[in-house]
Amino acid sequence: MADKNVTLGKMLYEGKAKQVFESDSKDLVVIRYKDDATAFNGEKKGQIEEKGIINNKVSASLFRLLESSGVPTHFVTRINDRDQLCRAVKIIMLEVIVRNVVAGSLAKRTGQEEGAVLPRPVVELTLKDDAKGDPLISRDEAAAAGVASAADIETMETLALKVNAILVPFLLEKKLRLIDFKLEFGRNEEGQIVLADEISPDTCRFWDAGSGEKLDKDRFRRDLGNVREAYQEVYERIGDFRFGV
Ligand code: TMP
Repeated sequence: MADKNVTLGKMLYEGKAKQVFESDSKDLVVIRYKDDATAFNGEKKGQIEEKGIINNKVSASLFRLLESSGVPTHFVTRINDRDQLCRAVKIIMLEVIVRNVVAGSLAKRTGQEEGAVLPRPVVELTLKDDAKGDPLISRDEAAAAGVASAADIETMETLALKVNAILVPFLLEKKLRLIDFKLEFGRNEEGQIVLADEISPDTCRFWDAGSGEKLDKDRFRRDLGNVREAYQEVYERIGDFRFGV
């Protein structure tokens, strides 16, 4: 894709995997994807070669798919290999996790076996607060703490389940099982809640539909090797989704 002419302003925010810059328009920001990888709340640090490029492309593709399926998102366009143009939003400080299959912290917390299929998708909320280690929080607690209103939480959960219902069959066609994923939402200028952040092998668990091989950040978390290759494989399977093509 040709570089689009966007002038980068000052850096507004730097996270563990991305940087956010002002653009030439007040309503738009540039999000830059880094190769830095962290796990266990930043305790484990590393770099995955070209992860930023791969995640930028995977996330752009999936956000286009979701937009075209009626999910409101912050995504505008991918500018180049590492950068996307997105609408400026105020991030709501909750992480919304959807699970189809038991894995990761759910297996650890409940003792259920990794790989057990859940009878229906399960939605979990965590506080987006690194200092506290992103703790699990109930809807009531989140609403009572004023992190978001009960109505906003319901909107986010409904959208998260809609994202799941769109992504599961799309990915299965690419021979990827969507085990679980984490979403973040933001509020735009008009007060509308929209999907924000990213959807990539950093924020999802993808298992090969045939072999069950892990094709996501668990390869980095658990030192399974071939991390970059797994991310690349996910991109190759998903491809560049374009609306109307
Ligand atoms: P978990 O099983 O470790 O709670 O993770 C659930 C899903 O959320 C998994 O797809 C990975 C994703 N995730 C993030 O994107 N960021 C995080 O900080 C954590 C802990 C999980």
